[in-house]
Amino acid sequence: MTETTLTIRRPDDWHVHLRRDAMLEAVVGYTARQFARAIVMPNLAPPITTIEMARDYRAEIVAAAAAAGHPGFVPLMTAYLIDGIDGAMLARGHAEGVFVAAKLYPAHATTGSAHGVTDVARIYPALEAMERAGMPLCVHGEVTDPAVDVFDREAVFIERVLGQVVRDFPGLKVIFEHITTAEAAAFVESAGPNVAATVTPQHLHINRNAMFAGGLRPHAYCLPVAKREVHRLALRKAATSGSPKFFLGTDTAPHEVHRKEMDCGCAGIFNAPHALESYLAVFEEEGALAHFEGFASEHGPRFYGLPLNEGTVTLERVAQEVPARIEHGAISLVPFHAGQALNWRLV
Ligand code: DOR
Ligand code: ZN
Repeated sequence: MTETTLTIRRPDDWHVHLRRDAMLEAVVGYTARQFARAIVMPNLAPPITTIEMARDYRAEIVAAAAAAGHPGFVPLMTAYLIDGIDGAMLARGHAEGVFVAAKLYPAHATTGSAHGVTDVARIYPALEAMERAGMPLCVHGEVTDPAVDVFDREAVFIERVLGQVVRDFPGLKVIFEHITTAEAAAFVESAGPNVAATVTPQHLHINRNAMFAGGLRPHAYCLPVAKREVHRLALRKAATSGSPKFFLGTDTAPHEVHRKEMDCGCAGIFNAPHALESYLAVFEEEGALAHFEGFASEHGPRFYGLPLNEGTVTLERVAQEVPARIEHGAISLVPFHAGQALNWRLV
Protein backbone atom coordinates (compact mmCIF):
# COMPACT_ATOMS: atom_id res chain seq x y z
CA MET A 1 0.00 0.00 0.00
CA THR A 2 1.27 3.47 -0.82
CA GLU A 3 0.24 6.15 1.64
CA THR A 4 -0.98 9.40 0.15
CA THR A 5 -0.66 11.48 3.29
CA LEU A 6 1.62 11.36 6.30
CA THR A 7 0.84 13.11 9.57
CA ILE A 8 3.50 13.48 12.24
CA ARG A 9 3.93 15.33 15.49
CA ARG A 10 5.07 18.89 14.79
CA PRO A 11 8.83 18.78 14.20
CA ASP A 12 11.75 21.01 15.24
CA ASP A 13 14.91 22.01 13.40
CA TRP A 14 17.96 21.51 15.63
CA HIS A 15 20.34 23.66 13.55
CA VAL A 16 19.50 26.80 11.57
CA HIS A 17 21.15 30.04 10.45
CA LEU A 18 18.52 32.77 10.49
CA ARG A 19 20.86 35.77 10.11
CA ARG A 20 19.51 39.20 10.95
CA ASP A 21 17.72 42.25 9.44
CA ALA A 22 16.48 41.88 5.85
CA MET A 23 17.81 38.33 5.47
CA LEU A 24 16.11 37.24 8.70
CA GLU A 25 12.85 38.75 7.47
CA ALA A 26 13.25 36.95 4.15
CA VAL A 27 13.98 33.47 5.50
CA VAL A 28 12.40 33.01 8.94
CA GLY A 29 8.95 32.16 7.60
CA TYR A 30 10.28 29.10 5.77
CA THR A 31 11.58 27.59 8.97
CA ALA A 32 8.64 28.73 11.13
CA ARG A 33 5.97 27.28 8.82
CA GLN A 34 7.40 23.79 9.24
CA PHE A 35 9.05 23.77 12.65
CA ALA A 36 7.75 24.72 16.08
CA ARG A 37 11.24 25.47 17.41
CA ALA A 38 14.75 25.79 16.05
CA ILE A 39 18.23 25.87 17.49
CA VAL A 40 19.60 29.16 16.18
CA MET A 41 23.29 29.45 15.35
CA PRO A 42 25.18 32.37 16.91
CA ASN A 43 27.72 33.00 14.11
CA LEU A 44 26.68 36.57 13.41
CA ALA A 45 28.95 39.58 13.09
CA PRO A 46 29.58 40.17 15.95
CA PRO A 47 28.93 36.67 17.34
CA ILE A 48 26.39 36.07 20.12
CA THR A 49 28.63 35.73 23.16
CA THR A 50 26.55 37.24 25.98
CA ILE A 51 23.15 36.65 27.57
CA GLU A 52 22.02 40.12 26.58
CA MET A 53 22.98 39.66 22.94
CA ALA A 54 21.08 36.37 22.82
CA ARG A 55 18.00 37.95 24.42
CA ASP A 56 18.04 40.77 21.86
CA TYR A 57 18.57 38.41 18.95
CA ARG A 58 15.77 36.15 20.18
CA ALA A 59 13.40 39.13 20.33
CA GLU A 60 14.34 40.08 16.75
CA ILE A 61 13.60 36.56 15.54
CA VAL A 62 10.28 36.35 17.39
CA ALA A 63 9.23 39.72 15.90
CA ALA A 64 10.29 38.71 12.38
CA ALA A 65 8.50 35.35 12.65
CA ALA A 66 5.33 37.05 13.89
CA ALA A 67 5.52 39.54 11.01
CA ALA A 68 5.83 36.56 8.64
CA GLY A 69 2.61 35.07 10.07
CA HIS A 70 4.14 32.68 12.63
CA PRO A 71 3.66 34.23 16.06
CA GLY A 72 4.17 30.94 17.92
CA PHE A 73 7.65 30.18 16.60
CA VAL A 74 10.18 29.51 19.37
CA PRO A 75 13.85 30.25 18.66
CA LEU A 76 16.20 28.29 20.93
CA MET A 77 19.31 30.38 21.40
CA THR A 78 22.96 29.32 21.51
CA ALA A 79 26.06 30.98 22.89
CA TYR A 80 29.11 31.31 20.66
CA LEU A 81 32.09 29.89 22.53
CA ILE A 82 35.26 31.98 22.49
CA ASP A 83 38.62 31.35 24.12
CA GLY A 84 38.37 31.84 27.88
CA ILE A 85 34.58 32.38 27.91
CA ASP A 86 33.13 32.53 31.42
CA GLY A 87 31.45 29.24 32.31
CA ALA A 88 29.45 30.85 35.12
CA MET A 89 27.94 33.30 32.61
CA LEU A 90 26.98 30.40 30.32
CA ALA A 91 25.39 28.48 33.17
CA ARG A 92 23.50 31.61 34.26
CA GLY A 93 22.22 32.15 30.72
CA HIS A 94 21.11 28.53 30.64
CA ALA A 95 19.37 28.79 34.03
CA GLU A 96 17.60 31.95 32.87
CA GLY A 97 16.25 30.10 29.86
CA VAL A 98 18.16 32.18 27.33
CA PHE A 99 20.95 29.85 26.25
CA VAL A 100 19.61 26.44 25.37
CA ALA A 101 23.09 25.28 24.31
CA ALA A 102 26.53 26.60 23.39
CA LYS A 103 28.30 26.22 20.08
CA LEU A 104 31.90 25.29 19.46
CA TYR A 105 33.30 26.65 16.22
CA PRO A 106 36.98 25.89 15.79
CA ALA A 107 38.48 29.25 14.76
CA HIS A 108 38.37 29.73 10.97
CA ALA A 109 36.58 26.43 10.32
CA THR A 110 33.66 28.05 8.48
CA THR A 111 31.55 31.17 7.87
CA GLY A 112 31.52 33.49 10.87
CA SER A 113 34.01 31.45 12.88
CA ALA A 114 36.88 33.97 13.00
CA HIS A 115 36.25 34.51 16.72
CA GLY A 116 35.98 30.78 17.37
CA VAL A 117 38.01 28.59 19.67
CA THR A 118 41.74 28.37 18.85
CA ASP A 119 42.38 25.42 21.17
CA VAL A 120 39.70 23.41 22.92
CA ALA A 121 41.77 23.55 26.13
CA ARG A 122 40.83 27.24 26.29
CA ILE A 123 37.17 26.38 26.85
CA TYR A 124 37.73 23.46 29.26
CA PRO A 125 36.57 25.51 32.29
CA ALA A 126 33.43 26.48 30.33
CA LEU A 127 32.78 22.86 29.35
CA GLU A 128 33.09 21.86 33.00
CA ALA A 129 30.48 24.46 33.95
CA MET A 130 28.21 23.31 31.11
CA GLU A 131 28.54 19.68 32.15
CA ARG A 132 27.54 20.64 35.70
CA ALA A 133 24.62 22.75 34.46
CA GLY A 134 23.32 20.10 32.05
CA MET A 135 23.83 22.53 29.15
CA PRO A 136 24.39 20.84 25.78
CA LEU A 137 27.40 21.51 23.55
CA CYS A 138 26.84 21.85 19.80
CA VAL A 139 29.96 21.11 17.79
CA HIS A 140 31.16 22.09 14.34
CA GLY A 141 33.47 19.11 14.01
CA GLU A 142 36.29 19.99 11.66
CA VAL A 143 39.98 20.61 12.28
CA THR A 144 41.35 23.75 10.68
CA ASP A 145 44.92 22.53 10.17
CA PRO A 146 45.63 23.49 6.54
CA ALA A 147 47.83 20.41 6.24
CA VAL A 148 44.73 18.22 6.60
CA ASP A 149 42.83 17.57 3.38
CA VAL A 150 39.46 19.35 3.42
CA PHE A 151 37.65 16.02 2.92
CA ASP A 152 39.39 14.53 5.97
CA ARG A 153 38.82 17.37 8.42
CA GLU A 154 35.82 15.84 10.13
CA ALA A 155 37.37 12.40 10.65
CA VAL A 156 40.58 13.98 11.95
CA PHE A 157 38.56 16.16 14.33
CA ILE A 158 37.19 13.01 15.97
CA GLU A 159 40.74 11.68 16.45
CA ARG A 160 42.33 14.90 17.61
CA VAL A 161 39.57 16.68 19.52
CA LEU A 162 36.13 15.18 19.95
CA GLY A 163 37.12 11.78 21.29
CA GLN A 164 39.10 13.46 24.04
CA VAL A 165 36.36 15.96 24.90
CA VAL A 166 33.83 13.16 25.27
CA ARG A 167 36.25 11.20 27.49
CA ASP A 168 37.10 14.25 29.61
CA PHE A 169 33.46 15.31 30.11
CA PRO A 170 31.49 12.07 30.38
CA GLY A 171 28.39 13.90 31.62
CA LEU A 172 28.37 16.60 28.93
CA LYS A 173 25.64 16.36 26.30
CA VAL A 174 27.33 16.70 22.92
CA ILE A 175 25.65 17.20 19.56
CA PHE A 176 28.02 16.42 16.72
CA GLU A 177 26.34 18.67 14.18
CA HIS A 178 25.78 18.18 10.46
CA ILE A 179 27.81 14.98 10.28
CA THR A 180 29.15 14.08 6.85
CA THR A 181 31.16 10.88 7.22
CA ALA A 182 30.84 7.19 8.05
CA GLU A 183 33.45 7.82 10.76
CA ALA A 184 31.23 10.40 12.45
CA ALA A 185 28.15 8.15 12.31
CA ALA A 186 30.15 5.27 13.80
CA PHE A 187 31.63 7.50 16.51
CA VAL A 188 28.18 8.66 17.59
CA GLU A 189 26.73 5.15 17.51
CA SER A 190 29.47 3.75 19.70
CA ALA A 191 29.55 6.68 22.16
CA GLY A 192 27.39 6.86 25.29
CA PRO A 193 23.80 8.13 25.32
CA ASN A 194 24.95 11.72 25.90
CA VAL A 195 26.40 11.95 22.37
CA ALA A 196 24.10 12.53 19.39
CA ALA A 197 24.27 13.99 15.89
CA THR A 198 22.23 16.05 13.49
CA VAL A 199 22.11 15.26 9.79
CA THR A 200 21.28 17.76 7.03
CA PRO A 201 19.15 17.03 3.96
CA GLN A 202 21.98 17.89 1.60
CA HIS A 203 24.36 15.34 3.11
CA LEU A 204 21.65 12.69 2.63
CA HIS A 205 21.02 13.68 -1.00
CA ILE A 206 24.34 14.67 -2.53
CA ASN A 207 27.90 13.51 -2.52
CA ARG A 208 30.93 15.59 -3.46
CA ASN A 209 30.39 14.98 -7.18
CA ALA A 210 27.47 17.41 -6.99
CA MET A 211 29.91 20.30 -6.61
CA PHE A 212 31.52 19.47 -9.94
CA ALA A 213 28.60 18.21 -12.04
CA GLY A 214 29.30 19.65 -15.49
CA GLY A 215 31.07 22.66 -13.98
CA LEU A 216 31.62 24.32 -10.63
CA ARG A 217 28.37 24.31 -8.60
CA PRO A 218 28.47 26.83 -5.78
CA HIS A 219 24.97 26.00 -4.55
CA ALA A 220 26.12 22.49 -3.62
CA TYR A 221 28.90 23.91 -1.45
CA CYS A 222 28.56 23.96 2.31
CA LEU A 223 30.76 23.15 5.26
CA PRO A 224 31.50 20.50 6.22
CA VAL A 225 31.71 19.77 2.53
CA ALA A 226 29.82 16.76 1.10
CA LYS A 227 32.00 13.64 0.97
CA ARG A 228 32.22 10.44 -1.11
CA GLU A 229 29.18 8.30 -1.88
CA VAL A 230 30.15 5.71 0.74
CA HIS A 231 29.71 8.40 3.40
CA ARG A 232 26.36 9.54 2.07
CA LEU A 233 25.11 5.97 2.25
CA ALA A 234 26.36 5.60 5.84
CA LEU A 235 24.54 8.80 6.81
CA ARG A 236 21.32 7.62 5.19
CA LYS A 237 21.55 4.38 7.11
CA ALA A 238 22.16 6.16 10.43
CA ALA A 239 19.49 8.83 9.96
CA THR A 240 16.77 6.38 8.91
CA SER A 241 17.74 3.64 11.40
CA GLY A 242 15.37 4.76 14.14
CA SER A 243 18.28 5.34 16.53
CA PRO A 244 17.49 8.16 18.98
CA LYS A 245 21.05 9.45 18.51
CA PHE A 246 20.30 10.96 15.10
CA PHE A 247 17.91 13.81 14.47
CA LEU A 248 16.89 16.59 12.15
CA GLY A 249 19.08 19.70 11.83
CA THR A 250 18.96 21.32 8.43
CA ASP A 251 21.90 23.73 8.72
CA THR A 252 19.94 25.97 6.36
CA ALA A 253 22.48 28.70 5.63
CA PRO A 254 21.23 31.41 3.27
CA HIS A 255 23.66 33.57 1.33
CA GLU A 256 22.55 35.99 -1.36
CA VAL A 257 23.10 34.54 -4.80
CA HIS A 258 25.87 36.99 -5.68
CA ARG A 259 27.75 35.91 -2.53
CA LYS A 260 27.57 32.29 -3.67
CA GLU A 261 28.34 32.83 -7.35
CA MET A 262 31.65 34.64 -7.02
CA ASP A 263 35.34 34.10 -6.63
CA CYS A 264 35.62 32.71 -3.07
CA GLY A 265 31.87 32.13 -2.73
CA CYS A 266 30.29 31.54 0.68
CA ALA A 267 29.67 28.10 2.16
CA GLY A 268 26.07 27.27 2.92
CA ILE A 269 22.98 25.68 1.38
CA PHE A 270 19.59 27.35 1.77
CA ASN A 271 17.39 24.32 2.31
CA ALA A 272 14.68 25.77 4.57
CA PRO A 273 11.90 26.16 1.95
CA HIS A 274 11.42 22.39 1.39
CA ALA A 275 13.32 20.87 4.28
CA LEU A 276 10.69 18.41 5.46
CA GLU A 277 9.85 17.25 1.95
CA SER A 278 13.55 16.80 1.24
CA TYR A 279 14.11 14.61 4.30
CA LEU A 280 10.91 12.70 3.66
CA ALA A 281 12.12 11.76 0.16
CA VAL A 282 15.14 10.10 1.77
CA PHE A 283 13.09 8.18 4.33
CA GLU A 284 10.77 6.98 1.59
CA GLU A 285 13.64 5.90 -0.67
CA GLU A 286 15.14 3.99 2.26
CA GLY A 287 11.83 2.28 3.09
CA ALA A 288 11.89 3.93 6.50
CA LEU A 289 8.76 6.08 6.63
CA ALA A 290 8.01 4.56 10.04
CA HIS A 291 11.16 6.20 11.43
CA PHE A 292 10.52 9.67 10.00
CA GLU A 293 8.56 11.02 12.96
CA GLY A 294 11.21 9.96 15.45
CA PHE A 295 13.95 11.67 13.46
CA ALA A 296 11.96 14.85 12.82
CA SER A 297 9.95 15.30 16.02
CA GLU A 298 11.02 13.07 18.91
CA HIS A 299 14.74 12.30 19.11
CA GLY A 300 15.81 15.95 19.22
CA PRO A 301 13.61 17.16 22.08
CA ARG A 302 14.31 13.99 24.08
CA PHE A 303 18.05 14.50 23.72
CA TYR A 304 17.85 18.18 24.67
CA GLY A 305 15.50 17.37 27.56
CA LEU A 306 12.67 19.51 26.18
CA PRO A 307 8.99 18.58 25.86
CA LEU A 308 7.73 17.12 22.59
CA ASN A 309 5.59 19.53 20.59
CA GLU A 310 1.82 19.39 20.64
CA GLY A 311 0.01 19.39 17.32
CA THR A 312 0.85 17.81 13.99
CA VAL A 313 1.88 18.58 10.43
CA THR A 314 0.65 16.70 7.38
CA LEU A 315 2.50 15.98 4.16
CA GLU A 316 0.69 14.80 1.06
CA ARG A 317 2.01 12.87 -1.88
CA VAL A 318 1.71 15.66 -4.43
CA ALA A 319 4.60 16.43 -6.76
CA GLN A 320 5.93 19.97 -6.67
CA GLU A 321 8.73 21.70 -8.48
CA VAL A 322 11.21 23.66 -6.41
CA PRO A 323 11.68 27.16 -7.86
CA ALA A 324 15.03 28.13 -9.36
CA ARG A 325 15.13 31.33 -7.32
CA ILE A 326 13.40 32.74 -4.28
CA GLU A 327 13.16 36.53 -4.18
CA HIS A 328 12.31 38.73 -1.20
CA GLY A 329 12.64 42.39 -2.04
CA ALA A 330 16.26 42.88 -3.03
CA ILE A 331 17.31 39.48 -1.69
CA SER A 332 17.71 36.65 -4.19
CA LEU A 333 18.34 33.10 -2.98
CA VAL A 334 18.82 29.75 -4.69
CA PRO A 335 17.13 26.99 -2.67
CA PHE A 336 18.35 23.42 -2.30
CA HIS A 337 16.79 21.21 -5.04
CA ALA A 338 16.31 24.30 -7.25
CA GLY A 339 14.51 23.30 -10.43
CA GLN A 340 13.96 19.72 -9.25
CA ALA A 341 10.75 17.90 -8.42
CA LEU A 342 9.90 16.64 -4.94
CA ASN A 343 7.22 13.98 -4.44
CA TRP A 344 5.73 15.31 -1.22
CA ARG A 345 4.27 18.62 -0.18
CA LEU A 346 3.64 20.10 3.25
CA VAL A 347 -0.09 20.77 3.58
O1 DOR B 1 28.01 25.82 5.07
C1 DOR B 1 27.98 26.40 6.14
N1 DOR B 1 27.43 27.61 6.27
N2 DOR B 1 28.55 25.81 7.19
C2 DOR B 1 28.69 26.46 8.35
O2 DOR B 1 29.23 25.88 9.27
C3 DOR B 1 28.26 27.86 8.51
C4 DOR B 1 27.21 28.19 7.54
C5 DOR B 1 26.92 29.67 7.42
O3 DOR B 1 26.80 30.35 8.45
O4 DOR B 1 26.77 30.14 6.29
ZN1 ZN C 1 25.57 25.61 10.54
